[in-house]
Amino acid sequence: MPSQPTYRIDLSYEDNYKQGPFFKDEIPKRKITRRENFLGFEVNSRLGIPAGPLLNANWVLTYAALGFDLPVYKTVRTHFAPSHPAPNCMILDLQEAIKEKEIGGQLKVAPNAGADWTGDISITNSFGMPSRDPKEWQADVEKAKAGMGEGQVLIVSVVGTPGEGVDLAEDYALGARMAVEAGAEIVEINLSCPNVISGEGSLFTDPNASSRISAKVKRAIGETPLLIKMGYISDPSRLTQVILANAPHIEGVASVNTLPFEVVAPDGSPALPGEGRLRSGVCGAAIKNCAMSQASRLIKIRQMGGYDFVVVGVGGAMSPQDIRDYFSLGVDAVMSATGAMWDPLLAYRFWKEGQEGA
Ligand SMILES: Cc1cc2nc3c(=O)[nH]c(=O)nc-3n(C[C@H](O)[C@H](O)[C@H](O)COP(=O)(O)O)c2cc1C
Repeated sequence: MPSQPTYRIDLSYEDNYKQGPFFKDEIPKRKITRRENFLGFEVNSRLGIPAGPLLNANWVLTYAALGFDLPVYKTVRTHFAPSHPAPNCMILDLQEAIKEKEIGGQLKVAPNAGADWTGDISITNSFGMPSRDPKEWQADVEKAKAGMGEGQVLIVSVVGTPGEGVDLAEDYALGARMAVEAGAEIVEINLSCPNVISGEGSLFTDPNASSRISAKVKRAIGETPLLIKMGYISDPSRLTQVILANAPHIEGVASVNTLPFEVVAPDGSPALPGEGRLRSGVCGAAIKNCAMSQASRLIKIRQMGGYDFVVVGVGGAMSPQDIRDYFSLGVDAVMSATGAMWDPLLAYRFWKEGQEGA
């Protein structure tokens, strides 16, 4: 690492959707000799890609073939929504781990960071959660599901859209039902959505609003396992409240989403063009420490509450060693977004090192 990413950050979301993933090498073959259990599914590995880099079935199928056995189809909605204009991903000038107290502050993008960037990869991403129309994404989810191999499980991420006269929980539930109809074997709801009920922050920080949604989604999808995707909560007692409120309705927690920062150009002006984009999400190498500390807290909360929901560790998993670090915390699965974009052979290398060490 780094090599040319499979997502071309110099192109628009649409171009990446239509032409990607940009991966031309031969796909190495693994020999699977034993399967593991994840939420009742027999899987080749408990390694996946979280919601984001897998824009459509072509992306899902390439990464599934590369050995990411738990691919999450990028967040969809109950109606069409456009993407923010390019650029949508920018490399940050950040070679050290982010500390909790720095979250919400300001970060600079790296000057002249193109495909030849050789530092650690931490990026900001800002898409605005675009979605195809449900007819289109449902047909595409069906295609993704049909093309996946043995021991692989398709997860679809869904978000509700606040609006005049919209019952947000109902919109989440409708999206989740559509995902299951299309073939999702597990549904994930992205709770990084503005909290229209209290008007404050995001849903994932609000025990009542988030659990109202997870309860409604669970009723809508029945037996299909439900994951909630959490952002970072620095106050452990608030995190506990949110998780305990949601626990009766869910089968798992995927954590963490991107960390919010103000992202500026080297001259201090906003890095991303257009209104409302000064604050954007940061992911990749520099968030690993914060992400792992939230994963540990989630494992403790699960134990304390006597629950058995799975914890999916997400954030800064860039290398096979990072993946092992997550598993040694006690997470049930690990997912890599930024790492897998820059190193599509990450799953293969993790598997190979496991064989050598076995
Ligand atoms: C290109 C890109 C797009 C993303 N889009 C979504 C999304 O649509 N929904 C979501 O829940 N998270 C999204 N994320 C966040 C990731 O799922 C993940 O939580 C975050 O990137 C941290 O993992 P990482 O450090 O491995 O990148 C996106 C991340 C990236 C890099």
